[in-house]
Amino acid sequence: MTRLRRHQRLSEGEQSREFKVQQLLDHGDWSQLFGLSGDLWLEIGTGKDTHIIDRASRFDGDLHVGIEQCRKKFEMTLRKAETLHCGPNLKFLHADAFDAIDPLFADNSLAGAFILFPDPWPKTRHARRRLLQSSFLTLIARKLRPGAPLEIRTDDPSYAHQALASLEEIESLLSRTGEEPWLYQPLDLGNHVETLFEKRFLSKGQPIHHFYLQKTEDVAVS
Ligand SMILES: C[S@@+](CC[C@H](N)C(=O)[O-])C[C@H]1O[C@@H](n2cnc3c(N)ncnc32)[C@H](O)[C@@H]1O
Repeated sequence: MTRLRRHQRLSEGEQSREFKVQQLLDHGDWSQLFGLSGDLWLEIGTGKDTHIIDRASRFDGDLHVGIEQCRKKFEMTLRKAETLHCGPNLKFLHADAFDAIDPLFADNSLAGAFILFPDPWPKTRHARRRLLQSSFLTLIARKLRPGAPLEIRTDDPSYAHQALASLEEIESLLSRTGEEPWLYQPLDLGNHVETLFEKRFLSKGQPIHHFYLQKTEDVAVS
């Protein structure tokens, strides 16, 4: 027997958490669209996790945007943001980050970005979908403000090595952890928020690779 689930419509509050790509293209300015001013933070591939909700609640003077391409997970996160009474400084985009980021975010505009447990897409025929590849990381670097942080986490050792090889090609992204390409523990344990995937991997005893990066202060470097 299959359990039938009623498709639940999003409430008004949940709907108001969604920014549509066209709205952004029309406004061209994130602050105007939010109706708030503040530093703009981006998380790519939020899934149904609450990391960005937690950050938006703790840093309520900053603006936050989460991008997720899967509509079902996207709607689950909208619901969680409302249930957790997150403020108006958090919005979500249902979009493919490969298409949406360049037109929607001005160069040197992001105060920081997170890519947490991106799908590794291990098969060669899917390689173009990997977020941790040179072209995509170069794009993110271009969107970050000089000095802005980029945090990446992955459980997958092979993907971590690929990411490292890509990062070594990008002069505008520097490691904040000196000679260590990644850490196996969070840099700031007290403020660290584990994601759903992170909890899953940790419970299986899989080590996490934490990359702490920063855009160089020199905007002339690409
Ligand atoms: C493995 S899950 C991790 C979710 C969450 N960050 C966590 O740590 O629990 C990766 C998520 O990234 C999303 N994703 C992958 N590629 C994407 C893309 N190009 N644009 C937007 N979302 C993407 C997937 O749909 C999926 O929900």
